[in-house]
Amino acid sequence: MKPAFSSSGPPERETSVARDRIPFSDGDFQTIADLAMRDFGLHLTLAKRDLVYSRLLKRLRGLGLEDFKEYCSLLTGPHGEAERTAMLSALTTNVTHFFREDHHFQLLRDVALPSLIKSAREGGRVRIWSAGCSAGQEPYSLAFTVLSLCPEAAKLNFRILATDVDSEILARAEAGCYQEDERKAIPEAMRRFIEPAQVGGFSISPAARDLITFGKLNLIEDWPISGPFQVIFCRNVAIYFDKPTQARLWARFGALMAPEAHLCIGHSERVAGPAEQLFRAVGVTAYQRLAANAHHIVQTARLASDPIQLPQPPGRT
Ligand SMILES: C[S@@+](CC[C@H](N)C(=O)[O-])C[C@H]1O[C@@H](n2cnc3c(N)ncnc32)[C@H](O)[C@@H]1O
Repeated sequence: MKPAFSSSGPPERETSVARDRIPFSDGDFQTIADLAMRDFGLHLTLAKRDLVYSRLLKRLRGLGLEDFKEYCSLLTGPHGEAERTAMLSALTTNVTHFFREDHHFQLLRDVALPSLIKSAREGGRVRIWSAGCSAGQEPYSLAFTVLSLCPEAAKLNFRILATDVDSEILARAEAGCYQEDERKAIPEAMRRFIEPAQVGGFSISPAARDLITFGKLNLIEDWPISGPFQVIFCRNVAIYFDKPTQARLWARFGALMAPEAHLCIGHSERVAGPAEQLFRAVGVTAYQRLAANAHHIVQTARLASDPIQLPQPPGRT
């Protein structure tokens, strides 16, 4: 498994233009870094040059390209969009697992969910968002946690939105099939929400799938979704962004969250910038949206108007 790409850490050695006989010029690096920032907010400093080279060399070889100049032409050409997403996938990591950073699921179970379930049972609307959901283990862990407390959640106005920028990883998430060795991360009591898969390993039960809507969404572009959300998990995604992009992301989350909603972020991430005034810390990398009005901060969040439709439960409009 490839190691996590981190925006911090010791600088990597700058080497000459030609390595392994495949030329990689300053211009090639800059083209790639500019596209990565423009399309995904991915912050590639010169210190990442060797890492960019080695990760993308595999793509070049797979595509049968001669050098990085050709690769940059592909990226910037009329059919470059799909390859730019593949490039993002090569440069970042999709690493995830069931119940990762379990303290967030405990917070959900013990603090956030009891009142949300009560509200849903009284006819209220509850929305949870897993932003940057990778192969699905995070939203399914959320669904298992909800169902363990509220087995009828799918019949209520209770939905989980799961999004990622990478269509391939999203397709894997929707398929909901996992290797046997992932089972051990799922607590015994939650294993009733998985079932043996025909091809080996296990798959997610219909009850848990029914709670989730998957959609492609780039966090640095417009968000075609409507809030408010009562819980947002965006973990180990913002680490790829530079500080201004992160600050804008927190403000945009704040704008879409209900008062007292919970935001859980990755273990090496922190809410910083103007959005700090929107949240109070309530645990390790866990925050709660303050009820206070903060228009000057949320104004920075530009939202699109055509929402991803979360399916309504039977009998509701
Ligand atoms: C390391 S995984 C984190 C998965 C999960 N949230 C967790 O913590 O286990 C990072 C995910 O962020 C996604 N990602 C990276 N840049 C993104 C962007 N600009 N918009 C949306 N998702 C992005 C990647 O495709 C990847 O699936």
